[in-house]
Amino acid sequence: MLKWMVRALGLRSSHALAAASIALLLLGCSDAPPTTSEPPPSSQPEPPWPVLTDTDPDPAVMRVELEAVEAQVEILEGKSTPVWAYRDAGAPKGDAMVPGPLLDVEVGQRVQVHFVNRLPVETTIHWHGIRLAASMDGTPLSQMPVPPNGEFTYEFEVLDPGLYWYHPHMDSEMQIERGLYAPLRVRGGVDPIVTRERIFVLDDVKISSDGPLVEETLPMDLMMGRQGNVLLVNGRRDRTIDYATGSRERWRLVNAANGRFFNLELPSGAKFLVIGWDGGLLEQPYEAATLLLAPGERYDVLVTLEGDPGSSAALQNVHYDRGHDLPDPGPKPILDIDFVPPEAEPPPALPSTWGEVEPIQVPAGIEPRELVLTENMDETVPGAEPEFFINDEKWPDHTPLTGVLGGTELWHIDNVAEMDHPFHLHGMFFQVIERDGVPEALLGLKDTVIVPKESSVLIAVKLDAPGAWPFHCHILEHAERGMMGHIEVVP
Ligand code: C2O
Ligand code: CU
Ligand code: CU
Repeated sequence: MLKWMVRALGLRSSHALAAASIALLLLGCSDAPPTTSEPPPSSQPEPPWPVLTDTDPDPAVMRVELEAVEAQVEILEGKSTPVWAYRDAGAPKGDAMVPGPLLDVEVGQRVQVHFVNRLPVETTIHWHGIRLAASMDGTPLSQMPVPPNGEFTYEFEVLDPGLYWYHPHMDSEMQIERGLYAPLRVRGGVDPIVTRERIFVLDDVKISSDGPLVEETLPMDLMMGRQGNVLLVNGRRDRTIDYATGSRERWRLVNAANGRFFNLELPSGAKFLVIGWDGGLLEQPYEAATLLLAPGERYDVLVTLEGDPGSSAALQNVHYDRGHDLPDPGPKPILDIDFVPPEAEPPPALPSTWGEVEPIQVPAGIEPRELVLTENMDETVPGAEPEFFINDEKWPDHTPLTGVLGGTELWHIDNVAEMDHPFHLHGMFFQVIERDGVPEALLGLKDTVIVPKESSVLIAVKLDAPGAWPFHCHILEHAERGMMGHIEVVP
């Protein structure tokens, strides 16, 4: 099996100045030669995932030491890929890893993340999906970027059980692509009995045959969001799991790719039992033959797979038409499943109740806000870059929305473009009310929703947090090229 090696590199200060300008280039800095102080290599984790070390003895407080560093990983056998990675600086052997260490907290805990930036460029950390104070949201709207060798302590209390993730919120198409992303689990609430719980962070990278990430950005990368030539599950392209046949497992998934949608299919026609998504557990689970995840979205599923011990099967990524005639490359296995003998008795009964989902009460007679998503591709200019807009405005030159704290709003997101855009709102969950005018039953709350090409989605939003909150397409190239705005929620 391919061994995944990670080495944190020391930051060379001489590099910092040059890097500031290089950072303007997509995927810049991979020209940097590996250097000096290399700590011993470490293996990339098998589940259970390395968890950020709690350095505060108070059980009500989770204090962690997190660093962003330059590192190298091995994605192609025998080839080293320079990346940017998070590491647990509070652990004796806190290796840099891609994806980064799990921030694993209990609902109600107070979280303090002391973050040190050891990258040659500014960065921030955004806690995707977490409800927190706007000043802790980790966007340049709400905080000064953390400079090289600078630090910042993020503080928030976790309110909602579920799977979230953390990532930078500046030059994100480059910084996330380079490896800065990690899962965040908030434990609490109903906990179905399973043989094993796993977290799968999905990604893809465009990598050259000698190892480094490809720096060149083609118009196609901008149009669809950069799609990689290597699919990664938890940072590896050949991830294999042992699966006790007949057992029930809980899989929590997040799509951390720039642009790729993952559409997953289990072997032998097995179905996913979807028990939760972005906002936590659903009121009632539902079965799904395929599981579609746009960038930014999370799903929480139960699976029960069977196979003869000694045999293998695969989790496949199958085509989903997200627009612009993206060709179907055929099913791609992304995770090998090796069946092993059953471990225990058959799985116990499922819980009879799941999440408690508070519907968002929309007062009668509210006029929805219109948010129209458009793209512009000037075919007449060779090599022209596509542009993306919300209401004909291009972030950062946009007019902020304003809303009243405590108010409830309807947002009609109208995608007139020829491709899907996953719409994400910071700081609060929303409820999908209608799709193309067809009412949708409440299952759970979301923070990221696919607005399919030439379709619309109506969402209800309760403005229960003051401050400035971005919303954007989570295809990172689209967000960074205009398809982003923000709402100012004022008392
Ligand atoms: Cu995943 Cu604006 O964020
Ligand atoms: Cu977010
Ligand atoms: Cu988009």
